[in-house]
Amino acid sequence: MIRKDTIDKIFETARIEEVVGDFVSLKKRGVNLIGLCPFHNEKTPSFNVNPARNIFKCFGCGKGGTAVNFLMEHEHCSYPDALRQLAKKYNIEIEEDIATPEQAILRDEKESMLVLNAFAQKYFSENLFENEEGKAIGMAYFKERGFTAEVIKKFQLGYSSGDWDAFTNAAVHNGFRKEYLVKTGLSVAKESSDAKDSSEGNEKLFDRFRGRIMFPVHNLSGRVIAFGGRILKKGDKTAKYINSPESEVYHKSNVLYGIYFAKSSIVKHDSCYLVEGYTDVISLHQAGIENVVASSGTALTVEQIRLIGRYTKNITILYDGDPAGIKASMRGIDLVLEEGLNVKVVLFPDGDDPDSYSRKHSSSEVYDFITSNAKDFVVFKTGLLLDDVKNDPVRKAGLIREVVETIAKIPDQIIRATYVKHCSSLMDISEQVLLTELNKMRRSQLKKELPPDDIEELLPEVLKADQAFNEASEELLEREIIRILLNYGNYELKFYDETEVPGSPEKKVTTEHVIKLSEFIINEIERDQLVILDKIFLHFFDEISVMFKASRIIVPESFYHNHDPEISALAVELLTHRHFLSENWEKMHKIPSALEDTGIQKNIERLINRYKKKRLDKIILELERKNQEEYLLGNDHSELMNKIKQYKEIHSMISSSLGTVVLK
Ligand code: CTP
Ligand code: MN
Repeated sequence: MIRKDTIDKIFETARIEEVVGDFVSLKKRGVNLIGLCPFHNEKTPSFNVNPARNIFKCFGCGKGGTAVNFLMEHEHCSYPDALRQLAKKYNIEIEEDIATPEQAILRDEKESMLVLNAFAQKYFSENLFENEEGKAIGMAYFKERGFTAEVIKKFQLGYSSGDWDAFTNAAVHNGFRKEYLVKTGLSVAKESSDAKDSSEGNEKLFDRFRGRIMFPVHNLSGRVIAFGGRILKKGDKTAKYINSPESEVYHKSNVLYGIYFAKSSIVKHDSCYLVEGYTDVISLHQAGIENVVASSGTALTVEQIRLIGRYTKNITILYDGDPAGIKASMRGIDLVLEEGLNVKVVLFPDGDDPDSYSRKHSSSEVYDFITSNAKDFVVFKTGLLLDDVKNDPVRKAGLIREVVETIAKIPDQIIRATYVKHCSSLMDISEQVLLTELNKMRRSQLKKELPPDDIEELLPEVLKADQAFNEASEELLEREIIRILLNYGNYELKFYDETEVPGSPEKKVTTEHVIKLSEFIINEIERDQLVILDKIFLHFFDEISVMFKASRIIVPESFYHNHDPEISALAVELLTHRHFLSENWEKMHKIPSALEDTGIQKNIERLINRYKKKRLDKIILELERKNQEEYLLGNDHSELMNKIKQYKEIHSMISSSLGTVVLK
């Protein structure tokens, strides 16, 4: 493990413009640098590098972060690998923590298991190519399935003989410890009945995979972490496939079969095909389609989707058209969408999976079939069911709800809106009805997403000292108001009212009002008829206000896609770097870092009041100037006098709530 102080040093030393500059040609633009984004296709540069903050941000695709993030994304490498790369660039010596004995043991253990797996893979492959049984049974089967020698070698396929312990003996003979044979799952320990009297101990090891063809599973760097074994004899009672058990080196839910062989092709095509199993991956490779991975035996997991997401945002699920395949793809669709990736589905004709289809058709036919049958999920879902339910309004409503529920999972508002449109025309139902339903679902989903404590943690970061707001300019206060609306507008604030019970003045009744933070701020600003001064913040405020009034929910991402780059850039800044921004804010405006112990809600009220007071100061000044003018001209100025009086009253109310002494 790299030591913490080494990591700090790397972060302090690495300059974002230099690191990015190794891969992207950058031009100066003001205090920033810009260039063409390496993460998406673009002709005009929207990729920004900010040397002052030491971060990059692409306003086209939204990717952003530190030099380490950049390398991880660009080089498809892990966090420690990115750190090592930077250390090398800046000649920083990496100091590693001396591993604790437990860590050292674990590391050695993992390494030993990987070495054993590599031995096993070689052993099984040799069996397949050289051993009589292997050739006669294993190789004959592969040939019959149509696998070429090339693809068999590429995927390092093998054969494990029908003996009870041929592999185990070979491994032990080659010096591998029994402990690791059991931990990798290559061997299984069984109580041996006749060993009771023997001094050897009463456990005997047997091969887990017997009489099976072997599919090694590789990690991202191509090392073998597990095996799948397929039985050959038909009608055998044991399972068709058995797989290695979970182990220190094999966490099933984080692994995709074929990812090592697919990753560069996935990046190249900016898309990834997802299939069910080993044979589908291999057959498609043979048909020349290499950007393909399998979830292999388990239901698709979030970790697996994120793994694909490191290489592309476009996933196409290929499943066979039987009910089980359809069900599996439905589940997959929701998961992929929730992770913010795009999803398409291809169903193979009933009875065929990608593997069997590839065997029956030429490579170009396979490719044509996949590309012409890839459907977006709305078409897919409705297409499957619409015929059944067309004349049954209740069932049709159920189907619509189901599709909308899936749409509601998409984090990006623009994409959601596109699907609503699509769904509306497909199902012949008004967009407005769909949107209402969608917003209802989003709201209940959002509630689940935002733990109530979240706000406690995030808000005080910027709402630090009241003093700072006092000194801040209107523009900065407006920025802060917009930032809070965007980030926390959907949170709820609680207000308490105390009213006396008529007839018994000692009794009081407390009523609780719950109001959305956005509603509170919008009301406060509009009640006093204040118009936000800064043009761009005014635009945000108006949009937010319209959005809230239409759906009672703020969707901040919608600003990302504004055609005005200034607005989308500002939205990104206000939203994505909220922690970052607050650090900067602190430096810029000397806000002390001690957190206020008063409640967050109070802080928001104070922010609004500070802002109002500042605005009123100016308004009163202006009115007084006018008043004097009219007076000198001998005109009637009683109305002006009234207005001034009114504003001064509001002003003193605000001031007293802020605890400031008014010296006038
Ligand atoms: N699979 C699995 N476990 C099973 C069945 C299937 O892991 N019990 C996975 C395998 O990865 C396999 C894929 O699902 O590659 C496809 O299943 P299936 O078509 O049943 O396997 P095949 O080996 O293609 O068998 P068949 O020749 O009968 O089609
Ligand atoms: Mn099959």
